[in-house]
Amino acid sequence: MSTPILSRRKTIVDIGKAKGTTPVVALTAYTAPVARLLDEHVDMLLVGDSLGMVLYGMESTLPVTLELMIAHGSAVVRASKSACVVVDMPFGSYQGSREAAFNACARIIKETGCQAVKIEGGTEMAETIAFVTNRGIPVVGHVALMPQHVHMMGGYRYQGRTPKERKKILEDAVAVQEAGAFAVVLEGVEESLARQITAKLTIATIGIGASPECDGQVLVTEDLLGLTESAPSFVKQYANLGAAVSQAVEEYAAEVRKRKFPAAMHCFFKK
Ligand code: KIV
Repeated sequence: MSTPILSRRKTIVDIGKAKGTTPVVALTAYTAPVARLLDEHVDMLLVGDSLGMVLYGMESTLPVTLELMIAHGSAVVRASKSACVVVDMPFGSYQGSREAAFNACARIIKETGCQAVKIEGGTEMAETIAFVTNRGIPVVGHVALMPQHVHMMGGYRYQGRTPKERKKILEDAVAVQEAGAFAVVLEGVEESLARQITAKLTIATIGIGASPECDGQVLVTEDLLGLTESAPSFVKQYANLGAAVSQAVEEYAAEVRKRKFPAAMHCFFKK
């Protein structure tokens, strides 16, 4: 029997070790070319269900299906070598029962080859998170602003404005940790609360619109590259690829119309 080749990928244990040390660098990736570009720079690639909005122009993440997550998750795993790949569980695939959740999570793990899944929800999802982690499925939790709760929240609202909201978010984060998650995303949460949660938890907190004190940060890649129509206010735009694409396509269109493209060097010549 040949010796199995050990993967050089970062593991969930590596992500856990980042607690209180160097922050975890995470970005979303939905496709092979983007995963290939990001892989060497990040610790974690998140195949977020935000792909419904970013890639497919959906109004929310709610219509995203398990099949869509499996197709994009497996593309990202195939195109990456070193990042820990986490795939989002889409709305409706895990809330019905803990057994349904296990079956959907197992499909994601088996059919994509990713290392972990992400599940939105706090105290109300704790039993499910415990059920799937006890059966071998690593879970990243996701509390505070949960995009799959957009209708319940009445929009994408910053979380942690009132003492009651703050108490619930803290309880949610603790419940997710106690249920066995190895990390938790804190999204759109008031900065001092994100700091307080990070200090209280022993698992890594990954912030998005949260606090620099979180144990890691995640953003939607297309937002930071300037490829989305409008990015949330907490995003820092590191490049304006939208403008670069527009300029390149304008030039191409003009050259095609003037018959400047293709030039001789771009043609296959017959003998
Ligand atoms: O779906 C997503 O992209 C996410 C993150 C941005 C945290 O859940």
